[in-house]
Amino acid sequence: MVYIKSKREIALMKVAGQAVADAFKTIKEVIKPGMTTMDIDQIVINTFIKHGCISAEKGYYGYPANACVSVNEELVHGIPSNKKILKEGDIVSVDLVASYQGYMADACRTFAVGKLSDRAEKLVKVTKDAFFEGLKQVKVGNYIGDISHAIQSYVENHGYNVTRDYTGHSIGTHMHEDPTIPNYGKAGTGMKIEEGMSLCIEPMVLEGKKDIRVLPDGWTAVSKDHKLTAHYENTVIVTSEGIEIITMYEGEE
Ligand code: MF3
Ligand code: CO
Repeated sequence: MVYIKSKREIALMKVAGQAVADAFKTIKEVIKPGMTTMDIDQIVINTFIKHGCISAEKGYYGYPANACVSVNEELVHGIPSNKKILKEGDIVSVDLVASYQGYMADACRTFAVGKLSDRAEKLVKVTKDAFFEGLKQVKVGNYIGDISHAIQSYVENHGYNVTRDYTGHSIGTHMHEDPTIPNYGKAGTGMKIEEGMSLCIEPMVLEGKKDIRVLPDGWTAVSKDHKLTAHYENTVIVTSEGIEIITMYEGEE
């Protein structure tokens, strides 16, 4: 079931989107070696509260934290812990869903801890750029498969792989609404893009093989070959003029 959002609903989602963006802004400023992934969870919930939001992740199918914080080989759904200490050169994906009066926005950034290796730096950049390649396809009359195809081709042309186990999605009063937006697929297939759709476009990229494994905690998905992974996501509204990204902060590149 596809929900086309009204102006009123989009306004509420934007408040959630700014809470997410503000958390990213703070994390980018303060992230450093010696911090724990639980410290990041604390920053997130404090920021959400400031914006009148709650975390939609907490309690989602029993998820135990406010944020998903996935380090290096962890692709998605890393559970914050005060035992997990960040070190120089780590890449840390922070995937957040805020809810404002029941309306949600979802985004992810992969942050650098100190100075990165060239190898990590390149993976993070290609993952982010893949989002913007997908974004170019978001226009009324195009197909969801156009986004998927653009992301997959861009990532594979750089020698990396996209996950087959997780996808992008629409969002609103539910975290996951139709349409599903895979990071792989054929152009010209799937649902037609319409004004009022809200799309979470989220390349999840593996440096090595595409296979993942879920750790015994039941959540953390890691690359089977232990190579690096990265993730970048925004919630995007399809408008009559084009698109609007609601999960970036002012001045964010
Ligand atoms: N942000 C994730 C997504 O894009 C969902 C997180 S799963 C949760 O679907 F359990 F943490 F909520
Ligand atoms: Co998402």
